[in-house]
Amino acid sequence: MKSSIILVDDDRDFLDILKSRLNRLGFKNICAENDPLKASALFEAGGVFDIALIDMTMPGMNGMELLDVIKNTSPWTECLMVTAVNEARVAVECLRKGAYDYLVKPISEEDLALSVHRTLERKRLLDILDIEKSNIQPEGIHKAFKPIVTGSQNMLKILKEAELHAGSDVPILITGESGTGKELLARAIHDVSPRAALPFTPVNMASLTASLFEAEFFGHTKGAFTGAESGRAGYLEHTDGGTLFLDEIGDMPIELQGKLMRVLQNGEYLKLGSSAQHRADIRFIAATNEDLDKLMSRKMFRKDLYYRIRGGRLHLPPLRERPEDIPLLINVFIRRYCAKGKPLQINDDALSALMKYDYPGNIRELGTIIQTAVNLAQGKAVSLRFLPEHIRRKKTGSQNSPFSNPPCHPLKKGDKARKTSDEAVLPLTEIEKNYILDSYNRSGKNKSRTARMLGIGLNTLRRKLKSYGEE
Ligand SMILES: Nc1ncnc2c1ncn2[C@@H]1O[C@H](COP(=O)(O)OP(=O)(O)OP(=O)(O)O)[C@@H](O)[C@H]1O
Ligand SMILES: [Mg+2]
Repeated sequence: MKSSIILVDDDRDFLDILKSRLNRLGFKNICAENDPLKASALFEAGGVFDIALIDMTMPGMNGMELLDVIKNTSPWTECLMVTAVNEARVAVECLRKGAYDYLVKPISEEDLALSVHRTLERKRLLDILDIEKSNIQPEGIHKAFKPIVTGSQNMLKILKEAELHAGSDVPILITGESGTGKELLARAIHDVSPRAALPFTPVNMASLTASLFEAEFFGHTKGAFTGAESGRAGYLEHTDGGTLFLDEIGDMPIELQGKLMRVLQNGEYLKLGSSAQHRADIRFIAATNEDLDKLMSRKMFRKDLYYRIRGGRLHLPPLRERPEDIPLLINVFIRRYCAKGKPLQINDDALSALMKYDYPGNIRELGTIIQTAVNLAQGKAVSLRFLPEHIRRKKTGSQNSPFSNPPCHPLKKGDKARKTSDEAVLPLTEIEKNYILDSYNRSGKNKSRTARMLGIGLNTLRRKLKSYGEE
């Protein structure tokens, strides 16, 4: 059998017994490690195993701590905890943290075989559900993901993967350009998770300062500092049992990253003004539109924090890489913004122009474009003349002038994208740069207005302008 298994136990005799039993069961690819710190280092270095059998009580690092490391570094490794009779309570806690099962010592060969085979079977099923080759149907996705409109296979696979992660407490890192739906996805994951009935708290990590961090995360007691007239729960207390969404984590000041790291490590904290230890049970989902690898190589993002947050990694592709979603989204946005009872129509020319556009602000930008067009159309069909000038200027491949009255295209549910000729002549980064600078100049160099026009965040705009040497 090709499956790889790592055994971690400080008791060498037990390791030998376990290894020879597994060999007898046909498993040959086995790594036995009696030092949990070495096992942990193996995972941190990118080691990949199908199953980890982990003893609960070990010197240097206990089983639960090792489980944490594994779930953070290799979420696809299924963990089986090995416990003594009196440790069952802790074992259950491990299940909550993402372990698949636990075995109580002494372990019979039969129990071992059953458990390992069951675990591999689950892994196989998960792989089938999620495997690159499989064709995922929108109906196969949990209904909590419904607000995320998509017909793209790539996106459906991401949603399926998100659904699989949602059941455990593994931290999730969502990456993707501005406006691609990171927050929408984070909320959906929370809504699918067993924590759905408890709070989902979004925190903008870019806007935190050192003086705010403790008060915001830990809260304070009455009189903790001048002006603290009443006590206040921080994010951790408020979110206890729920999900904390660490938004824009790539923009978090480096000096605060160590503080966050400590929170993520043990969930323990002291409220300002009190010496009593508190504990919060929280699932963390982080999001960023920054390239964290680049930030780490520039020493602007801590590696240890990255390993903590990246458990399950989900990358949302930009809208221009899933053009089949454009008509679906237009349909949804027209329905959303049209007055009730008005016909929902869009001209072919307008649709064609919208299909050819690159959307640096992604879905948020498309939403704004449609909202504006619907307002201007005043109940008529959305046609080219109601679209912003920079989109109108794009060649539509049609003979009609922007002010003629081309045939209307009534929107149907499940509308598919039409094929457009590929006429990209510049790299997308260049097109994006030109477009942003053009909008910036047109707005009289007003950053807030430009950000609003483009449907992107002010921080994102500032960063981009800086990289173009505009600030
Ligand atoms: N697939 C989608 N279907 C429908 N609406 C979407 C989809 N993706 C995003 N949206 C909408 O687009 C807007 C932007 O989404 P969201 O705030 O989740 O993006 P984001 O990636 O967090 O952006 P930023 O990086 O700028 O914070 C929201 O109004 C959201 O509801
Ligand atoms: Mg966001």
